[in-house]
Amino acid sequence: MLIAIKKYQAKFADFFNFEYAFAFFKGRVALYAILKAIAVGPGDEVILPGYTCVMDVNPVKYLGAKPVYVDIEPETFNINVNLLKDKITTKTKVIIAQHTYGYPCDMNAIMNIADKNGVTIVEDCCLALGSKYKGKLCGTFGKAAYFSFQWNKPFTTGLGGMAITDDAELADDIDSLCQKELCHPSKKEVLLLAAQLAVYRAFIYPRTTALAQTIFRSLTKKDLVIGSSKTSEFKPEMPLDFFKAMSSVQARSGLKQLKKIEQNIAHRKKMAQLYDQLLKEKGWNTRNYDSSIIDPVMVRYPVRVAEKNRALTEASKASVELGSWFECPLHPIETPLAAYDYEPGMCPEAEKASREVVNLPLHPRAGKKTARKTVDFITRFSQAL
Ligand SMILES: Cc1ncc(COP(=O)(O)O)c(C=O)c1O
Repeated sequence: MLIAIKKYQAKFADFFNFEYAFAFFKGRVALYAILKAIAVGPGDEVILPGYTCVMDVNPVKYLGAKPVYVDIEPETFNINVNLLKDKITTKTKVIIAQHTYGYPCDMNAIMNIADKNGVTIVEDCCLALGSKYKGKLCGTFGKAAYFSFQWNKPFTTGLGGMAITDDAELADDIDSLCQKELCHPSKKEVLLLAAQLAVYRAFIYPRTTALAQTIFRSLTKKDLVIGSSKTSEFKPEMPLDFFKAMSSVQARSGLKQLKKIEQNIAHRKKMAQLYDQLLKEKGWNTRNYDSSIIDPVMVRYPVRVAEKNRALTEASKASVELGSWFECPLHPIETPLAAYDYEPGMCPEAEKASREVVNLPLHPRAGKKTARKTVDFITRFSQAL
């Protein structure tokens, strides 16, 4: 294995004081590796929040298992643990505990239910790098956890994913799966990713994000850039080159950013507090969580607006960086929900959140000026309660 990748895996595992980390081309690939190593397959059920990205559901479907959705609780957008018990059946094999926007799930309750029923917990930390629950890092509660380094995530290597575990047997299984089945990015993919990362570093700032996204999406459709998701990923059939390794370009970028992780975390916390303050000054409700239990490191700052679509359209015209996820229970809006066993009405709180939530930037390139501009913009709309 290439040195940069080995080093990135070791440093990433160290951050969690864990023994094992496995780097992949994307976060979804890391989830696939974990589920396959746990031997998830036909006849099994995997529980997820009904407020997620469809790319999180794909690995479950690729393995022939059935996704079962639990509605969210409206403050943290995480699985509502009061509804979780009723979703457990003799077929339930895994609960995916997704720490949405950076808010840690109610891990005590989830672990109790999982233990009683012999169910494995896998933590989705794609939006929650550095968040803590009762003083302990998210990602260290379940049998395994996975992370994403895609453009919108806590830090980006263009695309990228990591699985971590402290379970030697599971690590062995993931390792042998990788030895047997993992394919490698093509030269063209690596070159394009390197070029995209350079463009990102040079040109993508809060005021240019909306325009960049529009250009990027249209280039992705023409296959001229490496987009986050190919068209073939919007159906539950595994593309031939899905199970792919990380490239050293990604690993080198990850190593650089891991060195700055504490500054990144501190910045996100400070920015989220600034949003709390600025929104409060405008009379808006802000984050509401028990800080004696959770210490969130938010990836984006979610707020609810009455006219989400109008807010997004106007934000783009005003060069305000406003995020739309999640646009539906299985983001994005184009997802054919029925093909993923989701029926409208299954998760009413998640559907409401999808209609109302937009998210505000917290990344290291967004500072006080961006926060003020964003809050001035968003508070011209009515808050949805
Ligand atoms: C909560 C969540 N988990 C997992 C993923 C998948 O990550 P990746 O895009 O790196 O495959 C996403 C989507 O980007 C996500 O939003």
